[in-house]
Formats: sequence, structure tokens, C-alpha cells
Amino acid sequence: MGSMKQCWSVSSVTSVVADLISAFASPISGETRLAAVIGDPVRHSLSPQIHNAAYQANGLDWRFLALPVAAGRAPAALDAMRALSIEGFSVTMPHKEVVAGHVDELMPAAAALASVNCVRREGDRLIGDSTDGIGFVRALESDIGRSIADASVAIVGAGGAARSIIDAVARAGASRIVVVNRTQGAAERAAALSPIASVGAAAQVVDVDIIVNTTSVGMASGPAPDTSAVAPEFLRGEHIVADIVYQPRRTPLLQVAADIGAHTVGGLGMLVHQAAVAFEWWTGQPAPLDAMTAAVATA
Ligand code: ATR
Repeated sequence: MGSMKQCWSVSSVTSVVADLISAFASPISGETRLAAVIGDPVRHSLSPQIHNAAYQANGLDWRFLALPVAAGRAPAALDAMRALSIEGFSVTMPHKEVVAGHVDELMPAAAALASVNCVRREGDRLIGDSTDGIGFVRALESDIGRSIADASVAIVGAGGAARSIIDAVARAGASRIVVVNRTQGAAERAAALSPIASVGAAAQVVDVDIIVNTTSVGMASGPAPDTSAVAPEFLRGEHIVADIVYQPRRTPLLQVAADIGAHTVGGLGMLVHQAAVAFEWWTGQPAPLDAMTAAVATA
């Protein structure tokens, strides 16, 4: 026990005290409003960190929880949202499609994708939206400092993340979208989301302005952690190369792209910006992006 006491340096005590002060800065009260992420698994989610940091930065008496909700129980969770006056739900797997069929209204992106990752309660009415794609576009535009209107974009992958990004990139005014995927059927279904999208071969990424990896290739815990999601011979220094993977921060794709002088954009911005879209929709306040980014900078 004596050696444990010696582990407490002055700086660690100071940091614990600072944490305690900030934890009690806005105590839970009868006025406290609640939002949550529902999913299974959900305990690993970074959403509580991001949203609670935002509430604290804006002085809001709100709290955000991670609520494990098993497959098949999303409709009951939506009823609970009404009964308990929960203001907002973030929705993650396996519930996105089921929730799209059980809310009272769908925003345009959620209707196009038949998928909901964000629910807002207005009295007893629940409205569903899909914010991943617009979160990606906002993060990308903020990183490159300009609009992606008129840009040509290659989307690598054709899963749920790819679909939301195809929809949002098309709404943002891109000139054309090429979908490149291992499985052609999935690529065709994803490309059908927009008249400016078509299926392409891997080599076609050479001719676009922006390349986006939406697959789990390059993810530390993914299927091919050491592999670039795009073959290096198809990358150019003129490309903007974005990866939605954020663990690691610099994926093999981003490393290869940076080495040849391309502009690279990591996945953390999308995570923060999709949360910012939800925060603004639920609270009506501008999102404190710096505080939200700091909350996950070491994640
Ligand atoms: P999410 O909802 O996160 O987008 P998903 O729906 O499972 O996840 O989609 C994963 C995407 O990554 C798919 O496009 C998948 O390709 P297939 O449609 O061929 O399955 C792609 N993907 C996953 N592992 C891959 C790998 N090792 N190589 C290439 N593509 C891969």
C-alpha cells in the first residue's frame, strides 16, 4: 500500500482535482436533459465522450449515455424515448434499418438510404436522419478549406458507410462518383443511389480529384491492417485522399498517399462532425468543435 501512495505525483493529484471540479461544474438536476446512443455492442462508443464534452463546453445541463439495446428491441427503445422524454438517440448497429421503419418522419438522406443513425424527439413525434455522410462532407470541406462542389470522387467500398457518403457527396454537388468495390453487386446497389454515380474498376481512381476509403482495410483491428485500401500505383500527388478509418490515425493508405505528396484527410473529423450535426439538431446550438475534437484526440 505504501508504494501505491508514492505513485501519486503532484501533477496527477492536480489532474484528478481538475477532473473532479469539472465533473461537478454542472450537477445533474431536475432540469437535466438526456440523449443516448443505442446499439449492440455500444460500450466502446466514443459518442458519450464527444457529446458530454460539447454539453460542458456550451454550459448545457444535458447528459449523454451509451445504452446497450439488443437486436429486435429498437422499437421498444423508441417507445421508451417517447415515454422518458429522451431528446435524441444516436443509432448504431444492428438498428439503423429497423429504426428507419419505426420513426414518424424521415429526413431526405435517411429516406434515400432507408437507414437512420440519429433520432430527434419533438413531443411524441420521432424524426430520423442519417448524419454520417454529411458529417464526412463537412469534415472533408473543413480540412481542405473549400467546397467539394464540382469535384469528381471515387468511393472505395459499398457498405453502409459508403452509401451514406455517396448520398451526401452527391447532395454536395460533386460532378461524378465512381464506386469501386470487391463485390460488384454491392457496388451496383450503392451506385444506384445517385444518377451521378457509376461502378468503376480499381484503376479508375487515377482520374478523380478525391479518393475516399470506406472499407475496414487499414483499420488496426480490421481484415488487412498493413494493406493500403487503394493500390499505390493508382495514387497521384494531385489527389485528395480521405480515409474514414481513425484507428490508426495514419492508415497505410494515408501513409502511401502522404509519401507521394497527396493531401490526406484522416477519419477522426467525420466522427466529430457527424456528432456535431446531431448536437446542433438536438440542442439548436452551434457545436463546439474544438472541445469535441479534444475529447477524442487521444482515443
Ligand atoms: P460499413 O457499414 O461500416 O460500411 P460494411 O457494410 O460491412 O461496413 O461494408 C464493408 C465494406 O468494406 C464493403 O464494401 C466490403 O466489401 P464487400 O462488399 O466486397 O464485402 C469492404 N471490405 C471489407 N473487407 C475488405 C477487404 N479485405 N478487402 C476489400 N474490401 C473489403
